Amino acid sequence: MALFSISTRCLYQSLSQRFRGCYLSTNTQEDASRLMTSEILQQLNVTANETILDMTFGDGLHSEAILKSNESVKIIALDRDPCAFQKATELALKYPGRVNPLLGRISDLPSLLGPLGIKRKSLDAIIFEPGCSSMQLHDANRGFTCEVDGPLDMRMDGPQATDFITAADVVMRADERDLSRVLRVYGDEERNKKIAKAIVACRYNFQPLDSTGKLTELVHVACAEKSSKAVRNVFYALRTFVNNEFNELNYAMLLAQEYLKIGGRVLALTFNQMEDTIIKRHITGNVMENSPNPVPLKYYSAAFNMKPEEINAMRSSPWKPIQKHVATLGAADKMKSHHFAVAKLRGAQKV
Ligand SMILES: C[S@@+](CC[C@H](N)C(=O)[O-])C[C@H]1O[C@@H](n2cnc3c(N)ncnc32)[C@H](O)[C@@H]1O
Repeated sequence: MALFSISTRCLYQSLSQRFRGCYLSTNTQEDASRLMTSEILQQLNVTANETILDMTFGDGLHSEAILKSNESVKIIALDRDPCAFQKATELALKYPGRVNPLLGRISDLPSLLGPLGIKRKSLDAIIFEPGCSSMQLHDANRGFTCEVDGPLDMRMDGPQATDFITAADVVMRADERDLSRVLRVYGDEERNKKIAKAIVACRYNFQPLDSTGKLTELVHVACAEKSSKAVRNVFYALRTFVNNEFNELNYAMLLAQEYLKIGGRVLALTFNQMEDTIIKRHITGNVMENSPNPVPLKYYSAAFNMKPEEINAMRSSPWKPIQKHVATLGAADKMKSHHFAVAKLRGAQKV
C-alpha cells in the first residue's frame, strides 16, 4: 500500500501543499455565521429587558450583536471552552451588568443556572450554533482543522478536560468495526470501511496516528485520491463523537423547552444535515422518549401499527416555527463555499 512507503518528511511536504486546497481556508462557518446575524436578530425580535441565553457563546459575535440591538437586554453566555469563557468575561467588562459568563456544557445547564436564580420557564430566548469557534480552529494545538498540523485532540473543553477522550485516542484504540461506524453515522462518510481499515493497518505498520496532518494524509491514501470532502467528513465525525455533540444538541432542545417561558423563542444555526434534522424533529414534534425520531413524520401511518391517536400525539409539538421555511443564505452566497451552502437557521416559539 502506498501509505507505508511515504516517509515522514515527504508527508509534511505534501501536507503543506495540500492544506491550501482544504475546505477551511475561505468562507468559513464564522463568515457564514456572521452573514446570518441579521436574520438571527430579525427572528429573535428582542424587546426591552429580555434575558437571552447563548448556549454556544464561541467568539461572541451573536451575543454582542444582540447586546448592541437593545441596551436593556441581558445575555447569559455559556461555552464549554475556557477560551470562549475568557472572551465572555471580557464582554462582561465591556457591557457591565449585562453579561453573565458560564463555563460548562449544555448538559450542565441545570446546575449552572440554579445558582444564578434562573428558574424553569423564565427565559425569553435561547440561541445556539453548534460547531467550532474560530479560536478553536485557529489554534493548531487544538487539532480541529486539517489546515495546519497539530496534535489530534479535538476536545472542545480544552486539554484540561481529562475526563474526555481525544480524537487520537479514538483512531488509535477503537476497533475497525467501531471506527467505520463512527465515520458512517457521525460523518456520513461513504468510504468509512476503507478509511477504518487503513487506520487500523496504520497502527501496526506506520507510526502513531496522533496528528491532524497524518490523519489527513491517511484519508487521502485510503481514498486513493485527494478528497477534501472525505477529510471534512472524517474530521467532523471524530469531533462530534469526541464531544458527544449530537446528544448535547438534543439536550439543548429539551432544555430550551424547560427554561423558556411561553412565547419564548429558540433559534438554532446549524451547518450539517444531521444537526438540522435533530432541530427539525424537535420543532415538528417528531420526538420519542426525549430523542429525535430516526424516521420523518410523513412515513408514520397505520402501516407502522400505530393508532391514529398515537400518530396525532406524536404530531403535537411544544413549538411553533417563527417562519414557515428554514432560513438559508442567498443563492449567490451558497455558491461560495460548503459552509455557506449548508447554513440553516431554524427558529421556533414555545407554545
Ligand atoms: C460555532 S461556535 C459559536 C459561535 C457563536 N455563535 C458566535 O457568534 O461567535 C460554537 C461554540 O460552541 C461551543 N460548544 C459546542 N458544544 C457545546 C456544548 N455542548 N456546551 C457548551 N458549549 C458548546 C464551542 O466550544 C464553540 O465555542
